[in-house]
Amino acid sequence: MKNSTADIRQAFLDFYHSKGHQILESSSLMPNNDPTLLFTNAGMNQFKDIFLGINKYNYNRVTTCQRCIRAGGKHNDLEHVGYTSRHHTFFEMLGNFSFGDYFKYEAIKFAWELLTDKDWFNLTKEKLWVTVYNTDDEAFNIWAYEIGIPQDRIIRIGNNKGIPFTSDNFWQMGNTGPCGPCTEIFYDHGDHIYGGLPGSSDENGDRYIEIWNIVFIQFNRQLDGTMLPLSKPSVDTGMGLERIAAVLQNVTSNYDIDIFRDLITAIANIIGITDVSKFSNKSLCVIADHIRSCVFLIADGILPSNEGRGYVLRRIIRRAVRHGAIIGVKEPFFYKLVTPLIEVMGVFANQLKCKYLIIKQILKNEEEQFSRTLERGLALLNEALVNVTNDTLDGETAFLLYDTYGFPLDLTIDVCRDLNIKVDIIGFKKLIATQRCRAKQSSHFNIDYSNLIYSNNISSFSGYDNIKQYSIVTALFCNNKAVDIINVGDSGGIVILNETPFYAESGGQIGDTGQLNRQDMSFLVADTKKYGLAIGHHGKVIHGSLKVGSKVEATINELRRHSICLNHSATHLLHAALFQVLGKHISQQGSLVSDDHLRFDFSHFKPITFKQICKLEDIINLYIRRNLLIQTNIMDLEDAKANGAIALFDDKYNKIVRVLSIGDVSTELCCGTHVSQTGDIGLFRITSEMGIASGVRRIEAITGKYAITAMQNDTDILRKSSFLVKSDTQNLANKIQVIMNKYRSLEKELQFFKNRQALQESIILCNHAIDLMGIKLLVSCLNDIDVKMLHIIIHNLKNKLGSGVIFLTTNINGKVTLAAGITKDLIDKVTANDLINMVLKQTGGKGGGRPDMAMASCINIVALPQAISNIKSWITQKLCCTITS
Ligand code: ALA
Repeated sequence: MKNSTADIRQAFLDFYHSKGHQILESSSLMPNNDPTLLFTNAGMNQFKDIFLGINKYNYNRVTTCQRCIRAGGKHNDLEHVGYTSRHHTFFEMLGNFSFGDYFKYEAIKFAWELLTDKDWFNLTKEKLWVTVYNTDDEAFNIWAYEIGIPQDRIIRIGNNKGIPFTSDNFWQMGNTGPCGPCTEIFYDHGDHIYGGLPGSSDENGDRYIEIWNIVFIQFNRQLDGTMLPLSKPSVDTGMGLERIAAVLQNVTSNYDIDIFRDLITAIANIIGITDVSKFSNKSLCVIADHIRSCVFLIADGILPSNEGRGYVLRRIIRRAVRHGAIIGVKEPFFYKLVTPLIEVMGVFANQLKCKYLIIKQILKNEEEQFSRTLERGLALLNEALVNVTNDTLDGETAFLLYDTYGFPLDLTIDVCRDLNIKVDIIGFKKLIATQRCRAKQSSHFNIDYSNLIYSNNISSFSGYDNIKQYSIVTALFCNNKAVDIINVGDSGGIVILNETPFYAESGGQIGDTGQLNRQDMSFLVADTKKYGLAIGHHGKVIHGSLKVGSKVEATINELRRHSICLNHSATHLLHAALFQVLGKHISQQGSLVSDDHLRFDFSHFKPITFKQICKLEDIINLYIRRNLLIQTNIMDLEDAKANGAIALFDDKYNKIVRVLSIGDVSTELCCGTHVSQTGDIGLFRITSEMGIASGVRRIEAITGKYAITAMQNDTDILRKSSFLVKSDTQNLANKIQVIMNKYRSLEKELQFFKNRQALQESIILCNHAIDLMGIKLLVSCLNDIDVKMLHIIIHNLKNKLGSGVIFLTTNINGKVTLAAGITKDLIDKVTANDLINMVLKQTGGKGGGRPDMAMASCINIVALPQAISNIKSWITQKLCCTITS
């Protein structure tokens, strides 16, 4: 067997195919509809619902090569990358899965055959060690007696500190979900490498490397730690492609395998490192690892941001850029590595090439943004490190770096680790806890499945062709608990039917509403959602009562559904038109298809111009006028892709998919409901365009009667506006321009008169100033003088009085404003702010300003005269104090 990484990947899949396994594609790194997972972190993720028995599958045995990220969430290797020879943020996991088919014996036997058979991996048996969960005698016996491994090379691994299910040999996907005991296979790289056997104190060395984990999935872990046994024990295995490649290519570090060697060489060339000894350089390994994760994360639709998944991506980019700086890179470089990466990742090349430009652009933007603060942040950190006492950097500095310089904590830890300095993580976390938004992120990746509905029922969807049909109630829920009956007044009702025309929310399309009726009962459906293979109708009984087993007539709200269909078909047209107008780089980031509008989010770096909006509308309305036929075809996934269908996140379990094509303009995998010809859409209008995150734009649009009503409203506004300004609609803009010009010149004129009035007012007021200890004090209450004029008056008075204190009030329609002015020569004795605050203490209100001029609004007008009468003595006191002190 040839042993390039590509050969090994293929050999694994071929081996399991020869054992009756269906070869399936890797799923996206962005877990589909799984709020408990940050990223796809194992081959089994895409089969989670099948292991849990929530979903059924066409095959009992499958095999995949799954792209995985372990950089955040339960399985996080980010901090190890660069410090061991075997950890990655991104890696490929080879796996075979049995869904209630074979179990421990076959799983172990297959693995042993692949590893040791001379036609396959042909490894020396003596170099392999295995571990089993300490109570798993069955697995132990299979290894010892069926496979024939000497018993002293089978290690039982117990629970960590005796805490149940915490062993390295008890695998859990996350805090909830499928899990079970496992058996792991280790490869001994030889005694020239440091490291001890699994379970020993130096097990973390690089000598004995875990190459394969075979998990016997038997439980569904609940958030409270309860292990619910699964009805069908299953098998999930995972072998890191890079690790087995290292073994088969006879190198001890993953970073020395063919793909990394080529990638690191290319990186070294790009950043101008010629010294070959630098290949052992940790930073080059970190950069090589990180460019892989960043490119695949972006290709799978994740964008850098300050939250959740996007924040992890940002952290990885920043860590790579920092390592670039360590090895002396001065210019943005990270984005330039996309090209060599695509070259070494042969099997993914086609998939990545079409997103190449956008990936580069996103990385470049991030890098430039971060480079600006990196230098200053590092300078601050280095300064702080000089003053570190007891080998620990304080939490405040780590927080300052994070908050002001965008240094993720692990970057700070990374820098400190090189100097053997720890970071006060607890102190950092306390500070971050006071920051509202980011800290919240991790929490919503813990959903308690015990609060969700489980239904083993299967509902078939008949709503592509029907709007109503008779159906049988197969299950009922009230407030998440299974019940036999729902009565009037019961809240949180969910009805599962064996067959239903109601579309359950998915693929961006909202759920249907409508009614479930029988003679003696009506259930109002307010929403429809999926629960595994069951369709749940949410709502309440409005008369009678509904029992499991009842026959009901299920009728959807037809008009609402029709509007949804228009918007769904229009969304596909928009997607196609965006490719034409903006380019092939755009990729869908999300969508909402409701009855009154549609929303489409996509990656693109610039705002869409008005001209482009018009072009999009023109193209889509042309498609509508061409009255293109909208057709669906059920076909094999591979054929669909070969036909150029755009695959989104649906249909992940099915080899057979539904392909929706609109004439010759759009082909997408889609399970939603659509109109039969584009002409039905009637009219398409874009109502808004905006940026919603870095590199993500959102377009909102309306169709059909909503678009017509909006157009009529616009016409009405034009008509009314034309009437008001006495123009026809053609000349409306010109007429408004003329009016605006006139308005501005009148405003100027008005200001001129106001200034004149203010001047006159100032002259009169000046005469009311009194002498007080050698300065002038003027206190006066005015009416109907606006705030702007009050400003001018105070300014004039300060000039006229020479040295003095001015306090004025103005009452406009009962709203009183206070203003204080102090000439510059007095502000070291008394300030306008002090004077205003003294009055506000008595009257209440808010305001502020500068030492020589301040203003405020006054709340308690009744208290104002008394407050004003105190001014003279207060000023006297201030002046005296300053003289005596
Ligand atoms: N799911 C198992 C793992 O990731 C095989 O190790």
